[in-house]
Amino acid sequence: MIRWQNLWRFIPLLGLILLLSGCGDDTISALKPRGPVARDQLFLMELSFIIMLLVVVVVFALYIYVLIRFRKKKGEKDIIPKQVEGSHTLEIIWTVVPVILLLILAVPTVQYTFKLLEDHRDNEDALHVKVTAHAFWWQFEYPTLGINTAQDLVIPTGKKIAFELTASDVKHSFWVPSLGGKMDTNPGLTNVYYLEADDADVFLGKCAELCGASHALMDFKVVSKEPAAFDQWVANMKKPASIPADVKAGEQIFKDNCLSCHAVNAQGLGAGPNLNGFASREKIAGILPHNDEMLKQWIKDPQSVKPGAKMPGFYEGAPNTDKALKDQEINELVKYLNSLKLPQ
Ligand code: CUA
Repeated sequence: MIRWQNLWRFIPLLGLILLLSGCGDDTISALKPRGPVARDQLFLMELSFIIMLLVVVVVFALYIYVLIRFRKKKGEKDIIPKQVEGSHTLEIIWTVVPVILLLILAVPTVQYTFKLLEDHRDNEDALHVKVTAHAFWWQFEYPTLGINTAQDLVIPTGKKIAFELTASDVKHSFWVPSLGGKMDTNPGLTNVYYLEADDADVFLGKCAELCGASHALMDFKVVSKEPAAFDQWVANMKKPASIPADVKAGEQIFKDNCLSCHAVNAQGLGAGPNLNGFASREKIAGILPHNDEMLKQWIKDPQSVKPGAKMPGFYEGAPNTDKALKDQEINELVKYLNSLKLPQ
């Protein structure tokens, strides 16, 4: 007998379903594709979901029908149903139907698997970008444009971005849900795939492979711009920064303490992120809101923000450093970093 009074036990489940169905931010959801690759992949998900749903519905319908139709009636004696062992008809049905369903699933899946892994690095209509994952930040190089940057990947809309992905330390995974599926970045190996954005927006990217203490904080942004705006960005990135006179002190502190790891020009690569155009980026260290307080905290004690980050702290007594900076010096440094802005 069904104990209807126990149905309340399902309420948490219902709550969970409602909660999960609330997921799906426009800039980080595989269910809201914003480019052709993501759309193809959503199609595969929907196709497999529909086939599974079909199977579940048919199986359950048969099951419930049999339960009701053949249940033991009052006064009925035990009877052994008709035996169907070795029935050709049944065996053909339950072999052929799944084979057909698997074929419907397999043909587009295999087709898309090859299509989406095409190497467009030498395609003149695509933009070649090298991604290197580091614990816990992202480096982006544009070999054909002579630009290196970090954390904010700027791309043109309506163009294939031919990615070449690797890692410097451990395995990470590059994932921009709105634009397409994830791709592993492995030290010593190169993976290749492409993505494309329909329109201008800022998409959230994540590291999708457990890579250490700050794995969950290894965020980045994909900033897609209309082609003209993208070209403008490229030109701005290449312009030598004009350093206002009132940040010269900060610039000197930067040179003395930071420049060995952080480049501030179009092409530089170092142990830390290239900071050219830093003040125009979406976030500090990929995750913190862009304001002076956060920037000061990051410079003083990166470990308090991203445990395991390689950047040393700059407070008195910080581990791995003898470079404690006075508050005044950090203020100057912040002023300098805020001046690293690209023209709009
Ligand atoms: Cu990098 Cu997780």
